[in-house]
Amino acid sequence: MDFIEVFEGVAKKFNTLDRTKPIKIISNHDCDGIASAAILVSALSRAGLKFSLSIVQQLNQEVLDSLKLEPYETVIFADMGSGYLSNIEKNLEGKNIFVLDHHKPEDYNPKFIIHINPHLFNLDGTKDVCAAGVCYLFAKALNEENRDLAHIAIIGAIGDNQEKNGFFGLNSLIIKDAVDYGKLEIKESLRMFGMQTKSLHKVLEYSTNPYIPNVTGNERGAIKFLEDLNIKVKDGSKYRRLSNLSEEEMKRLITAIILKRMGSEDAPGDVFGQIYLIKDESDESPTRDAREFSTLLNCCGRLGKPGLGIAACLGDKKMKDAAVELLNQYRREIIASLEWFYKNRGGLKVKEGKGYVLINAEDSVRDTLIGTLTSIVAKSNIYPEGTILVSLAHTLGEETKVSTRIAGFMDSAFDLREMIKKVVKVTGGEGGGHRLAAGATIPQEKEEEFLKLSEQILIGAAVEEIK
Ligand code: C5P
Repeated sequence: MDFIEVFEGVAKKFNTLDRTKPIKIISNHDCDGIASAAILVSALSRAGLKFSLSIVQQLNQEVLDSLKLEPYETVIFADMGSGYLSNIEKNLEGKNIFVLDHHKPEDYNPKFIIHINPHLFNLDGTKDVCAAGVCYLFAKALNEENRDLAHIAIIGAIGDNQEKNGFFGLNSLIIKDAVDYGKLEIKESLRMFGMQTKSLHKVLEYSTNPYIPNVTGNERGAIKFLEDLNIKVKDGSKYRRLSNLSEEEMKRLITAIILKRMGSEDAPGDVFGQIYLIKDESDESPTRDAREFSTLLNCCGRLGKPGLGIAACLGDKKMKDAAVELLNQYRREIIASLEWFYKNRGGLKVKEGKGYVLINAEDSVRDTLIGTLTSIVAKSNIYPEGTILVSLAHTLGEETKVSTRIAGFMDSAFDLREMIKKVVKVTGGEGGGHRLAAGATIPQEKEEEFLKLSEQILIGAAVEEIK
């Protein structure tokens, strides 16, 4: 059977449930999880069903323990659950469980969970479809009218890094729905944050992806960069925006960014390419660009306000404004964490080994931002393609959050999830994720041991490669 065909059966099964009983939705706090939740909330509301929603940082025993005590007969796990199937079955027997996920599943054959995951159909959950895409296909099978939610799935996919100057697999089918339905428009442009709304030099100053050396986080550097290119920062008293640049100026800017990043002309083409505009948003709206919308959702989740992100997806203007406010705080924190990273490079807290980097931020970077920091560093061309980054930061609950990434834009044979699983087995804690992005939460007193074991594996991997 084809993956798409599965959804019809699942929707049929879902429609046999008692409609008077409320449903519990549990989703993840990142962009994909929030987009998944927004899609499910919209679809269940449209179906006239009652529900309650919880957004959690990760699925663990504590979450299952509290679910056990709650009266919900039906629970939907979105963007989580596939790695936790046996535990869910152990803890929630007697309930109707739906798992809509895209993470690599645990090797376990569930007895009663309805488990929907692209990996079961030989699709790649890191690029073919994300959790929000899975939730969208489920919603569409429930009711064709839910096609008006396709753009939210695309926001989730962008947040999950599934866009590589275009989409693959089921994502291209979903984007077609979003375009056909008049929700999304695709254009070729410079791909930078704030392009629609911010003045030119601010776009450059706040640019973390791409990271531009001496310009990101440096207003004076950004202005000088433009002046050196003979691009005026102001028109009279008004700051210019990217949209005010002539074609000639735009070309000069793109070339200069690429050169500045690479120090050579063979830069990756990620600076210029497709952008995805949400048609219901005004030109000036900070959430017109789907990439910016995905950052907004990430920010809401990471700063502990996922409800704002969900409301923004559902078109609540007031909540969206509040989310945009939060975004400013988020950007300041990211820039501060990047500054911390640069200050500590090569020192005890940022250990740079052969083919790997160990970052121990302790309390200097918020635990919910350590993944973002690691992703930015991974994509900044600071380290050679394939360098493995392992970052740690303290949580408020006296544990340590771990995030791992692989530098560059290429695929890599190294499996971060495997490494995390191996190390967590020894140190204790919980971990999971994907081959190219994995994470864990470990007891704080095990930090040193975690770093030591990871380093042994990474040195071993380097030796393997040389052989
Ligand atoms: O938090 P971060 O962005 O680094 O997470 C990377 C990946 O690892 C995500 O897919 C996340 O769901 C997974 N992860 C996990 N268990 C954790 C932390 C992260 O499965 N304790």
